[in-house]
Amino acid sequence: MKNIKNICCIGAGYVGGPTMSVIAQKNPHIQVTCVDLNEARISAWNDDNLDNLPIYEPGLAEVVKEARGRNLFFSTEVDEAIDKADMIFISVNTPTKTYGEGKGKAADLKYIELCARQIARVAKDDKIIVEKSTLPVKTAEALKSILHNTGNGVSYQILSNPEFLAEGTAIQDLQNADRVLIGGDDTEEGREAMQQLVNIYASWLPKERILTTNVWSSELSKLVANAFLAQRVSSINAISELCEVTGADVSEVSRSIGMDSRIGSKFLKASVGFGGSCFQKDILNLVYIASSLGLQEVADYWEQVILMNDYQKHRFARKIVKTLYNTVADKKIAFLGWAFKKDTNDTRESAAIYVAEKLLQEQANISIYDPKVKKEQIITDLENLGTLDPEAIHKRITVVSNPYEAMKEAHAVAILTEWDEFAAYDWQKVYHNMMKPAFVFDGRGILDLKNLTKIGFQLFSLGKSNTAVK
Ligand code: NAI
Repeated sequence: MKNIKNICCIGAGYVGGPTMSVIAQKNPHIQVTCVDLNEARISAWNDDNLDNLPIYEPGLAEVVKEARGRNLFFSTEVDEAIDKADMIFISVNTPTKTYGEGKGKAADLKYIELCARQIARVAKDDKIIVEKSTLPVKTAEALKSILHNTGNGVSYQILSNPEFLAEGTAIQDLQNADRVLIGGDDTEEGREAMQQLVNIYASWLPKERILTTNVWSSELSKLVANAFLAQRVSSINAISELCEVTGADVSEVSRSIGMDSRIGSKFLKASVGFGGSCFQKDILNLVYIASSLGLQEVADYWEQVILMNDYQKHRFARKIVKTLYNTVADKKIAFLGWAFKKDTNDTRESAAIYVAEKLLQEQANISIYDPKVKKEQIITDLENLGTLDPEAIHKRITVVSNPYEAMKEAHAVAILTEWDEFAAYDWQKVYHNMMKPAFVFDGRGILDLKNLTKIGFQLFSLGKSNTAVK
């Protein structure tokens, strides 16, 4: 098999964009073209001003600056890029199905199938197809069937190469990955294709971190990794409520159990709930797969992780309403943070959306500040819920670019994202300008409890019992 000289990636989103940028940076001898149907996204990737890249990730702009125009290209010419490529990554979105069989649980594979059909139509020579999107087990088989039955007699090898980067640390995660997983067929051609992809990653990662497995293990491992991570968050969140009513402190419990090397310290921080485009979708997908295979106990076990997460978001919103004397109607509530986590502008499935939904249903006015999320995005997130009157959204939501303005004359402040800057604010000044009693609901455990209490705030912090608000 010839050496890979030309890569194409279909989908220039949160995964495709950063992943291809790093692959191009580390493999200057390979031409990498990232294509997308979304013209606005591609033109933002090509913007001379690197502040306008469509995705905010620490370190991304520097990588793009180094590689773009040298061997990294962003384009809407999907057919042309497919035609030229020796290896094609598919990195399109795989949202939860919103219709038909498996609605609300199964992954919607229509975008993947469209890609496969487009490749089959355009390709004139042999290609390696790499599943980068997170896919249900056995998707490679479906891809194979489409490619072989509708193609031009071209030979394809299909690899699974799920992405483990976390938003907010994507560049660091890619440049120093714990492991790269590559699944392929156990045939001579399959092993050769896997080796080609191993070589690309080996240009910057130690070989022992690059694992090769069969395709199904690789596809399933991605779903399982996300399910395990999310399960830790739901587990500690379940304990947070227990701490509030017993006098324990969840951060002390986390530290104590996390020092056990069998448990480990990561993903043990209590919060208002996990968000992001992946955890919920991938667990639901796992639940759907287990249940369609008749493994109902397995499905129920994992579904509980989602139910706990929903409960935590609702519990936080209910705590705000209850504390504010059972009514937030026409009161100003300030939200610090809208992104689903710090250091990203991604808001998909952010806990803030669901807390806002509940408070808007109670007719609160919400003033929002997030360092990286734009107003249009916030409005779209709320409109997309489909449960709120669009007029009420416009009337009751204000988005401001100054955090002190968001909190001025507010009855309560709620911390929804753990951006570092929030802890460093002049809380004395915030207190001075707020309505009294001045309530703060820390959904991320980032504020200095003692200091805020000393200033005079009535504080609630998830998982803590030593606060004024219980
Ligand atoms: P995204 O929605 O940011 O990007 C997907 C892009 O694909 C969009 O820009 C869309 O316009 C484009 N697209 C869809 N169909 C297309 C087609 N036929 N031709 C050309 N472009 C097309 O999604 P994101 O977050 O990058 O996720 C992609 C996949 O990676 C998903 O399966 C996700 O589960 C997985 N993943 C995501 C991670 C994350 O942190 N966001 C981490 C690991 C995996």
